[in-house]
Amino acid sequence: MSISGIRKVFEAAGEDAINLGLGQPDFPTPAHARRGAIEAIESGRADAYTSNKGTQQLREAIAAKYDRDYGLEIDPNDVIATAGGSEALHITLQAHVDPGEEVIFPDPGFVSYDALTRIADGTPKPVPLREDLTLDPATVEEAITDETAAFVVNSPANPTGAVQSKADMREFARIADEHDVLCISDEVYEHIVFDGEHHSPLKFAETDNVVAISACSKTYSMTGWRLGWVVASNRRIERMLRVHQYGQACASAPAQYAAEAALTGPQEPVQEMVETFEQRRDLVLDGLTDAGLEVPTPEGAFYAMPKVPEGWCDEVLERGVVVVPGDAFGANGAGYARLSYATGTEELKEALEIIDDATRAVR
Ligand SMILES: Cc1ncc(COP(=O)(O)O)c(C=O)c1O
Repeated sequence: MSISGIRKVFEAAGEDAINLGLGQPDFPTPAHARRGAIEAIESGRADAYTSNKGTQQLREAIAAKYDRDYGLEIDPNDVIATAGGSEALHITLQAHVDPGEEVIFPDPGFVSYDALTRIADGTPKPVPLREDLTLDPATVEEAITDETAAFVVNSPANPTGAVQSKADMREFARIADEHDVLCISDEVYEHIVFDGEHHSPLKFAETDNVVAISACSKTYSMTGWRLGWVVASNRRIERMLRVHQYGQACASAPAQYAAEAALTGPQEPVQEMVETFEQRRDLVLDGLTDAGLEVPTPEGAFYAMPKVPEGWCDEVLERGVVVVPGDAFGANGAGYARLSYATGTEELKEALEIIDDATRAVR
């Protein structure tokens, strides 16, 4: 395994560069979430280990969230609070993939799917996306073999900003049921959707072959708090708990209290953030199109993934804008770049002008 391609770009960037490489919202964590942690710390409630799965109140808040958002009934005992979505992905793969078994995931896709599959001694099976950068359920179904342990669905997606349709999600659930393979649904951007809404395959599966992963990281701008979770059937949770128990013991207690407050408190800060992201999405889309680049309309998260000419990423980087070359997200990402618009609007406008000039220079 090598160090992520994203890190390499950051290291190459100058100090004054405009950074469109970041994977975290540029908003503060909501005040009520911070207060949740502060009060827990000051009262001494955050001093000790919590239960391995996380506090009962946090798991109830997570279960209530699934009811509120999707009408899904989740037993708080079937939730593990983790150190971010990252640990949730790790324990899911570690507990479900035997050495040599295959894990299918989108290419381009989030960098951890390949790396965590290798850490679990599994075999990565990256599959290409449709022209609109969504994952075709038929592509996943064709890639399934006797050795397949799991496939990953990520919607809204990093690095593409693509959102899977309800029909696709229904198909992913059917595939997991019929082929008896695990569908790992990475939903960390579930609330950052501009057109339509997020649908979880959890809602459609008839067996317990869907595991859902989410986190406070993106929704509440809490990447530094390290708080995510995994939701699955009890037998799967108990299996994943063995990895979590020995690797982590429990998620950080102050972060658990902050997450509980974030989930149970007012949700307006999320709406405000999503509205801002949507305005910036439109700005970026117009800017890239005006520069003559082809870019599928991202319907969620805070990324855009245009097709770019040879030498484009270097030219843009040399002119002081950090973008991530698409091949950092898999071989099929070559010829694309990922731009994050989790950056102030004025900086974005400046970056788009530079991108316009750079694009003319390499054409
Ligand atoms: C698709 C996807 N899944 C999971 C994660 C991990 O999130 P966390 O910061 O909660 O560990 C990220 C972070 O960038 C992501 O983009």
